[in-house]
Amino acid sequence: MRRTLVAGNWKMHGSLSENESLLSAILAGMADVKADVAVCAPFPYLAQLQVRLAGSAIAWGAQNMSQHAKGAYTGEVSASMLKDFGCKYVIVGHSERRAIYGESNEIVAEKYAAAQAADLVPILCVGETLAEREAGITEAVVGHQLDAVLNRAGVASLAKAVVAYEPVWAIGTGKTASPEQAQAVHAFIRGKIRALNGAVAEGLIIQYGGSMKAANARELLGQPDIDGGLIGGAALVADEFLAICRAG
Ligand code: PGA
Repeated sequence: MRRTLVAGNWKMHGSLSENESLLSAILAGMADVKADVAVCAPFPYLAQLQVRLAGSAIAWGAQNMSQHAKGAYTGEVSASMLKDFGCKYVIVGHSERRAIYGESNEIVAEKYAAAQAADLVPILCVGETLAEREAGITEAVVGHQLDAVLNRAGVASLAKAVVAYEPVWAIGTGKTASPEQAQAVHAFIRGKIRALNGAVAEGLIIQYGGSMKAANARELLGQPDIDGGLIGGAALVADEFLAICRAG
């Protein structure tokens, strides 16, 4: 039986004091949460998470990292630096990184491999745009995004990774994929991995992301191939986030 992983993606939100309020409210409500829970914060707040969440049931991570281990890369942050701050997870290939910062499938695959080399668990985001869905190429797009990682790191690497299916048209738009739409793509992803390695496919956590909230979490998480959520907006509201965690 796969575990459920609910991870908050705070994006570029927060402050020391806002984070403190949010974290203390979430921590206070964790007693009846069975799912695994994590929060992914902006880099400057990782130290705060390390102090506040050490020894708690909540893991933490970053939202991006450099594909390089060290060197003359002004402004970048390496995987080993994230490890220094106790991160377990790092999101790679979020659609905002791909679309706004031009991260290609190959760069995302390099980041994924660099994360694993430093013993971080990459949360690999994949997903199609609205135009791609309407053109009927959702599986081709998601398949290519996965292939880049499979070619670089191999299928066995997915035993130490999480995949997040995040349809771009559902992120931050309030338009959630229907449980059937999401399940279909999740089943496609698992089927693609199963064809390469059955055991890895069965153990792989595939999160859904895109306007997941308390009101739709239970139905989405009830689908056979949806094993968690990557939560943006709703992760900034303690009660919403906790309700999603409890649904898992
Ligand atoms: P959203 O974001 O929940 O606000 O749609 C999800 C994400 O981008 O990870």
